[in-house]
Amino acid sequence: MEQIKVELKNYSYNIHIGKNLDYVALILQNTDKKDFLIVTNETIAPLYLDRLQNSLKAAGKHVNSLILNDGEQYKTMDSYMAIMTRLLELSYGRDCVLIALGGGVIGDITGFAASCYQRGVAYIQIPTTLLAMVDSSVGGKTAINHPLGKNMIGSFYQPLCVLADIDVLKTLAVQELIAGLGEVVKYGLILDKDFYEYLKINIQKVFEYNETTLNYIIKRCCELKAYVVAADEKENSLRAILNFGHTFGHAVETHLGYGKMLHGQAVGLGMAIAVSLCKNRKLLSKQECDDIYQLLKQAKLPTDIPQSMSGSDFITHMRHDKKVKAGVIRYVLLERIGTAFIAQDVSDDEVISLIDSLKSNS
Ligand code: NAD
Ligand code: GLY
Repeated sequence: MEQIKVELKNYSYNIHIGKNLDYVALILQNTDKKDFLIVTNETIAPLYLDRLQNSLKAAGKHVNSLILNDGEQYKTMDSYMAIMTRLLELSYGRDCVLIALGGGVIGDITGFAASCYQRGVAYIQIPTTLLAMVDSSVGGKTAINHPLGKNMIGSFYQPLCVLADIDVLKTLAVQELIAGLGEVVKYGLILDKDFYEYLKINIQKVFEYNETTLNYIIKRCCELKAYVVAADEKENSLRAILNFGHTFGHAVETHLGYGKMLHGQAVGLGMAIAVSLCKNRKLLSKQECDDIYQLLKQAKLPTDIPQSMSGSDFITHMRHDKKVKAGVIRYVLLERIGTAFIAQDVSDDEVISLIDSLKSNS
């Protein structure tokens, strides 16, 4: 089992990564509290809820569960209220612990509810998607969606610990595995050229569920995310580079309508566009740009811009992104492979002509 520490100024916690993790032993190692509420969804519950709930009960804990509907469309105030209602019905006090058993949707809602219930109770992340293991369960960003914007209501609230068991990835749909790889490739490009080189050789093995590869990939991504979050927990500076590919990607998600392309896939396409922008700016060579496209294709991530989307569509959507500051769209670009920076001098015309040229070449 791998263990990675997220060290913040006033608080630290561990991410445990492995196969067949002993959840209960790890939970007992991290808390002596008695009352637990496991929050999960209708897809994950039949697969993994009983094992967790029964073993915690066998360890003498008072355990209840709440099964939410599955999907991003349920990352709402209603789901948040369902958690609050259950906690109140159970008369749980400030010493209870919430457990998020699921992907990023369950992790984000549960973390947000934990940050608010009686002004904050403990919670544990048990991520069950690759995306949640390498990204959303680590770093304490929690949120629900508002009809006017995704993740617009939330908090920074760190978990007690993160328990990532690679075994659960076997039941995950391949498209979801691919979406997770979008975030994995991102870490190599923005922070670690050696990891990028490792991915070029090994990424295929993820589709074979090769345990050594999965373990290493998740461990390295968590180490990189832990480093960034420790340096800038509340995203005042460095943490913004984790949004590489996200600005273009969110524009695609919004344009197509949520649910048409998974978030991680849209990030893959967003990274392809950002990399082409870097090539136009002579930050990356043509060879490097081609190599990155090759890796994205090996990861089965999309690289072609939807024909229905123009350069101006991108600008319109990106202007509504919450990362726009003082009217300026902030793009994460690569200084070179493994090093990212924020550019504030990219003009709308530059983006529009890039999109047009990419579309005509595809
Ligand atoms: P998800 O939570 O919707 O899970 C994807 C699908 O896989 C769901 O249908 C789910 O029920 C199913 N599933 C999950 N684990 C499974 C398993 N082991 N076996 C079978 N099916 C399983 O999607 P996601 O990609 O994990 O997360 C996306 C969410 O994460 C978005 O809401 C996004 O905003 C959020 N996010 C948050 C952060 C953060 O820092 N907090 C970072 C990135 C993304
Ligand atoms: N997923 C981006 C972040 O955690 O900051």
